[in-house]
Amino acid sequence: MNIHKYEKAFLTLGGVMLVIFLSAALYSAVGMGIMLPSFAREIDPAAVRTTPPFDDPGVREVAPGKYEAVIIGQAWSFVPNEIRVPAGKEVTFRVTSTDVLHGFNIEGTRVNMMLVPGQVSEVTYTFKEPGEHLIICHEYCGLGHHLMYGKVIVE
Ligand code: CUA
Repeated sequence: MNIHKYEKAFLTLGGVMLVIFLSAALYSAVGMGIMLPSFAREIDPAAVRTTPPFDDPGVREVAPGKYEAVIIGQAWSFVPNEIRVPAGKEVTFRVTSTDVLHGFNIEGTRVNMMLVPGQVSEVTYTFKEPGEHLIICHEYCGLGHHLMYGKVIVE
């Protein structure tokens, strides 16, 4: 079979691009550890408020320099509605929903999760600079969806 040389060149170019993009995707996932936020574990959505750590939502230091922010999403608010975290420290957000699907997006950061009833969503993030960020529910969750937001104060 005779393949025209331009066609051959384009096929080669396509193959090379594919290898480059696949390598970049693999490198970012494995080498740089960029992954989707994980579903850490399951939880009974009806018993969220009595299941640790959600029986005591808020921010706490779990190890030297490491913090945990436990937050509940519900129609149509976050509990607690405002949290304070230190700049330059690792904060692990553990968030769940008591009712329907909600979103958890911290404006201006890569913290972006879906809150699925029955599952705990987790992501770890370090805020570099002090400041304020909105927490936005970005999954449509009913009539009060647009009122569902909170605030992170980095100090
Ligand atoms: Cu909760 Cu939209």
